[in-house]
Amino acid sequence: MRKLSYATLLLMLLTWLPTVAQQKVSSLKPKQISPDLFGIFFEDLSYAADGGLYAELIQNRSFEYSPADNRDWHSLTAWKYQTDGFGYGTISVETTAPVHSNNPHYVVLNVEEEGQKGVGLENSGFDGIPVKAGKGYRFSVFLNVMSANPLPIAVALVDDKGKELGSSTFTATGHGWKKYTEQININFDDDDARLVMLVKSKGKVGIDMVSLFPTETFKHHENGMRADLAQVIADLKPKFMRFPGGCLTHGDGVANIYRWKNTIGPVEQRTDQRNIWNYHQSMGLGFFEYFQFCEDIHAKPVPVLAAGVSCQNSGGTWRIGSTGQKGIPMDEMKAYVQDVLDLIEYANGSVNSTWGSKRAAAGHPAPFNLEYLGIGNEDKITGLFEDRFRMIYDAVHKAHPEIKIIGTVGPSPNGEDFDKGWKLANQLNVGIVDEHYYEKPQWFLKNTARYNNYDRQRSKVYIGEYASWGNKLFNALCEAVYMTNLERNGDVVRMASYAPLIARIGHTSWNPDLIYFNGTRVFPTVNYYVQQQFAANSGSEYLPDVITLKGDQATKDTTVGVSCVRDKATGDIILKIANAGNNAVSGVAQLGKIGAFPGSAMLTTISGDMQAENTANNPDAVLPKSTAISLQKNWSFTVPAYSFSVLRIKVSRVK
Ligand code: AHR
Repeated sequence: MRKLSYATLLLMLLTWLPTVAQQKVSSLKPKQISPDLFGIFFEDLSYAADGGLYAELIQNRSFEYSPADNRDWHSLTAWKYQTDGFGYGTISVETTAPVHSNNPHYVVLNVEEEGQKGVGLENSGFDGIPVKAGKGYRFSVFLNVMSANPLPIAVALVDDKGKELGSSTFTATGHGWKKYTEQININFDDDDARLVMLVKSKGKVGIDMVSLFPTETFKHHENGMRADLAQVIADLKPKFMRFPGGCLTHGDGVANIYRWKNTIGPVEQRTDQRNIWNYHQSMGLGFFEYFQFCEDIHAKPVPVLAAGVSCQNSGGTWRIGSTGQKGIPMDEMKAYVQDVLDLIEYANGSVNSTWGSKRAAAGHPAPFNLEYLGIGNEDKITGLFEDRFRMIYDAVHKAHPEIKIIGTVGPSPNGEDFDKGWKLANQLNVGIVDEHYYEKPQWFLKNTARYNNYDRQRSKVYIGEYASWGNKLFNALCEAVYMTNLERNGDVVRMASYAPLIARIGHTSWNPDLIYFNGTRVFPTVNYYVQQQFAANSGSEYLPDVITLKGDQATKDTTVGVSCVRDKATGDIILKIANAGNNAVSGVAQLGKIGAFPGSAMLTTISGDMQAENTANNPDAVLPKSTAISLQKNWSFTVPAYSFSVLRIKVSRVK
């Protein structure tokens, strides 16, 4: 018999090991779970878009603010008429010959005497304009010179004493609207700057779309996102992103329903809209930008469109049984249904199609690979709703069987709309339904078994909005316990997203949120770090019976949640142990069951005082900490009270 060398023997052993692993894994009976389980939900509320993720630094750039947005607002909100150097003239807001009819208001400045400095406008941004020394900012404006001569224009960023931080000059020429773009380089840091634009000689000029962006937006898109905020969102590693909102989508009355077609194309041609949360949507962050952002952060896009009805709280405040719901008139529904179908063409259609060509014209000839589409947002399930939902559902299902439609089952985890919504979903065979719940942290612990008995043959579930009421460590841990149970039920729960995602401090319409921010800083909550651990460490297979807790914790104590998943893409095995109780918890993970595993792995833990909370004053109160630990076939662990631990085992390294 031929003698085998050590090297050959070793190679044979290594090839044999993963085979053993495979056999053992199959003896574990892995359950296939959704590859899209944990994502994010973006709603333009609490200044999430304008004054938030959208990097525009000028507030009310197109003079479209009005008392309809907020009773104290008007076309010149955030603007000041500037005549500092003894210049004078007149200023008016007009609508007769705008840049575009969708954007009707503009300012007309008639400079009778330019004085020492010129006459013009000053904008205070969103709580000031933050600028950084050494950075560039892209200023642009539409001007229409109405007098005979060209007009010299000076534009500058200034501090509160008027000191110039950076500036540029140019000349506006000729009748008719023209866009001017200038780069402004900044020499001094200031978190509270103003933009000043002055006309330096006598004359008359129309002004609109005054804009200022940092040149360093996220991924450097011109009409882009604020880089630091976008990065913190990207760091969540969400599998999908739902947009543009919840209540914002179905709107405050029919006229306020979000219409995606109003949000694409050149920004000066988009239709601004009152925000249901009592402010304003410039629509600069529109559907093209949403799709592009999803692509940038590798999240599947999940647009949600109104089901042809407005929010049931339209015209009033939220109350159970509200009946402010209004329907798009039936004779307009055909056109509305077409809008929904056109969105699919906009996202996925060829560049030669009507709507696909608009995507290409915006700079994205490749499709956006739309897979999911939400119809409706926690609507009251009435006849009005049902008629319209059916029309949209039937049309989309017929024309695009490849699209996974997400229906809606009311604003609560149970109750009349929940039952009626599910009944309708079952009748129509809707692929996925959207459940929402905002509850006390204890609710999440009491309901860990919620999905155990859901009928696997019926619609799958998207938990489109959920959160426990608070941002303390205890809240985040209750969510973590619940999420381990979502993983276990990942065959029926297809997707889940915490809500809301981001909120600007000083403008929050809803609390709690996942991420807080101001003009210059971003503050992730403890809940954020829990969400991040789940999304970044999600799996495609659930492996039951790997983790056993000691004593009766496993069966009786719902303050503890454990899960073990395999990520097929990397081969990695991930164990999660969430403990929202006040005792340490011990157990054993039978790593031998998963097959070959390396000698060590990275353990990440989030723990601390149950009341601890990350705030603007103490942003790092609770942070995840990672450490390498050694592994054994039967890995015994003890996790502390009030903790969440994630062990990622790089099985691929073994090969
Ligand atoms: O997430 C905040 C709001 O909560 C959403 O707009 C709405 O869908 C829900 O009621």
